[in-house]
Amino acid sequence: MAHVHSLIILFLCRVILGESGWTMDYDVDGDLSLDDLVKKLGYDGIESYYGTAPDGYIINVKHIKRENAQNLMPVLFVHGLTACADSFFVKKNESGPIFLADHGYDVWLLNSRGTRESSNHTILNPDNDKEFWYFSWQETGLYDLPLAIDVVLKHNVHDKLFLIGHSEGSTIIFVTLSERPEYNEKVALSIHWGTSVYHKGCSSVLFLSALCKVLEPMLLDLTERLSFFGTRPMSKLRDMIVLMCRYTIFKSACFELAKFGLQSEDSQIQYVRDWSFYISKSLCGGSIRELQHYMQVGLTGRFARFSYGPKRNLQVYNSTEPPLFHLENVKSPVVLWCGKKDVFCVDDDMNKLKSQLQNVVTTDFRGHKLFSHIDFLVAKDVDKYIYKDMLALMKKYST
Ligand SMILES: *[C@@H]1O[C@H](CO)[C@@H](O)[C@H](O)[C@H]1NC(C)=O
Ligand SMILES: *[C@@H]1O[C@H](CO)[C@@H](O)[C@H](O)[C@H]1NC(C)=O
Ligand SMILES: *[C@@H]1O[C@H](CO)[C@@H](O)[C@H](O)[C@H]1NC(C)=O
Repeated sequence: MAHVHSLIILFLCRVILGESGWTMDYDVDGDLSLDDLVKKLGYDGIESYYGTAPDGYIINVKHIKRENAQNLMPVLFVHGLTACADSFFVKKNESGPIFLADHGYDVWLLNSRGTRESSNHTILNPDNDKEFWYFSWQETGLYDLPLAIDVVLKHNVHDKLFLIGHSEGSTIIFVTLSERPEYNEKVALSIHWGTSVYHKGCSSVLFLSALCKVLEPMLLDLTERLSFFGTRPMSKLRDMIVLMCRYTIFKSACFELAKFGLQSEDSQIQYVRDWSFYISKSLCGGSIRELQHYMQVGLTGRFARFSYGPKRNLQVYNSTEPPLFHLENVKSPVVLWCGKKDVFCVDDDMNKLKSQLQNVVTTDFRGHKLFSHIDFLVAKDVDKYIYKDMLALMKKYST
């Protein structure tokens, strides 16, 4: 993983910053594959399934292998922006998938298009064809999640499953349930961690608003010219960040950066003893359009299809504005969880969403007052704050 570029940059840093503090101190499990990590936790490991989406993307779905498993309903995890299936395991033996597997559920995880393991296509080459990276969470919701649901149900005696989406995973679930309404019948309950539909923070929270207003108009042009966030430079950048965060000298900088990026204020995030482990499991790739699409929703207040600008929208959608997603189609029950300290789902966002949904089971959970956006993955005592509530709801909705 140590690229020549990273080593040169590290060498320069060492010259500039001096010699002290250049010891490595990190969790060696960061280098394990998900399969090896899960085996180390005492399970039989992970198996991979692949499917081809209607637009040619080859999508990977993970499954926790278990001998003698109880026959409870399957649950499919859907990860957030830049993350992947691995990201749900940052708490190792206390992570959500392991907890549910221990309680007899059959656990599956999606790797959405653009992540390391879902970066292939029947025609396009992710290294050479920038068109490969012209997607947002819209396509993941229209194609990848329905595909994954079909894979899970095909390998199961049950005809329904649970969905658990964190952050962008929540957005993706809402796109699927809105635009592929037949999938509501296959979903017993969807549980949204850090619910992500409306994003008023994009125009009200100071730093986010500056970012949204300045960046959004530039991104379409940039992605078409360079598409640099999707292609290999991104994985080099990722590897460099992971490597740097393993040196004690950068530890606090990495922590502050992640806290700033996620606006986690005084969350319980400090639980993560080893930031390099978290980072190595959380930067798995993605396209810059995913971010741009969020900015559009934030700036317009419309949960709508991707906007190409008025002229091209007219060609693509027969309308200068992109059409709204049909939230009125969401018939399956939903649990909307959003912590008080989460700027990506403020009260206005939640109220607006609730008013458009027909079947909201609850928005309550024990961690409500304390949680920020990523606490669902990393907080101390997650079993107390969310798992117990989650298990009770899943028991109730198991059929
Ligand atoms: C997880 O592992 C740690 C240390 O290996 C142990 O102290 C803790 O009890 C374990 N938690 C669960 C839920 O198994
Ligand atoms: C990508 O998919 C193509 C077409 O199915 C296949 O021929 C190729 O081997 C795949 N490449 C990788 C790296 O998996
Ligand atoms: C395009 O939109 C116009 C006005 O809304 C409508 O009259 C027309 O039928 C639409 N055309 C197509 C092909 O949908």
